[in-house]
Amino acid sequence: MLRSRILSTGMHVPEGLVTNHDLARIMDTSDEWIRQRTGIEQRYWVKGNEATSDLALRASEIAIERAGLQKHQIEMIILATLSPDHEFPGTACFLQKKLGIPGIPALDVRQQCTGFLYSLSIADQFIRNGVYRNILVVGAEVHSKGLEKNDRGRDVTVLFGDGAGAVVLGAVDIRDPKSEPHILSTHLHADGAFAEELWTPAPGTGNSSERVGASELENGLHWPKMNGKTVFMHAVKRMPEALIEGLKANGLTPSDIDLFVFHQANLRINDMIAKQFEIPEEKVFNTIQKFANTTAATIPIGLDEAVRTGKLKKGMLVASAAFGSGFTWASAIYRF
Ligand code: ACO
Repeated sequence: MLRSRILSTGMHVPEGLVTNHDLARIMDTSDEWIRQRTGIEQRYWVKGNEATSDLALRASEIAIERAGLQKHQIEMIILATLSPDHEFPGTACFLQKKLGIPGIPALDVRQQCTGFLYSLSIADQFIRNGVYRNILVVGAEVHSKGLEKNDRGRDVTVLFGDGAGAVVLGAVDIRDPKSEPHILSTHLHADGAFAEELWTPAPGTGNSSERVGASELENGLHWPKMNGKTVFMHAVKRMPEALIEGLKANGLTPSDIDLFVFHQANLRINDMIAKQFEIPEEKVFNTIQKFANTTAATIPIGLDEAVRTGKLKKGMLVASAAFGSGFTWASAIYRF
């Protein structure tokens, strides 16, 4: 049976460590507020000119090397980001140029916090259908260049970090689906009715006669806007739904899962889900304390950290779920 499996992981965060105390020096916030509401203690922001594709490159090179592959053996690049290098072309093309592997398809996925699971699902379909054997799947963000670092932007700015995570998804011919590592399922959802609850309005053709003009800039439409409470309420409903959907599709219950690697938007969201499913604390791998919300990169960063810290071992059954702007939400169940 032709299936895909995660062959390797890689991650990279930039050097610029920014603590909550650092933010409190430039806007009206406090370490106490940020920790209590979100669990975040620090994040990494780029110091210089690094672009999203630069962070993606470092994470990808590590993942490709750990897969035991040469770069030219990668047959497709899928990159999820909401902070692209440029409006067009897609950041996957810039990553491809930096990797030096021309000719193969390079695809951007714009599903924000759910972007990595959408990308994983797309890669899985290509592999299951026998089209490609090795696909590089990356989530990467440089949020810090797009955050309003003052009192007006504090509700969004404190939440986000820069970083990249990558996996190489490879084809496997499995005989025993119960025990052999592979992607068991992915389930994807969206509801565009909530598109404006978390978004960056400009630049874009949805604005007046210009994608970005003086009035958009004056009104700060190029900064992200978030209705935090609405996002929170939907996240704690939709992530469990997607998780149950994935578990049911495979005849599993939460107790069958060895490790949960969720999207990292808010520690309170993940704690609520863990409580709802009665998941013991040690089975939920959170990284938000250290890296904040790196959007499309949270899950591959989580996987890499979990491998490096010995929490995730070959053969373990893993469940991931994510929720974010769009609204979009998804789950994936996989034996690592
Ligand atoms: N520091 C200090 N005070 C702040 C800050 C800050 N950084 N930000 C907001 N406040 C204030 C507010 O102004 C408000 O003050 P008021 O009571 O005087 O009006 C007060 O703190 C409480 O604000 P709330 O919005 O009620 O805070 P809440 O408990 O809802 O937490 C948070 C806010 C953390 C943003 C939460 O709503 C949340 O996590 N939402 C989900 C975020 C998320 O999941 N995003 C999606 C992923 S991102 C993606 O997909 C791209």
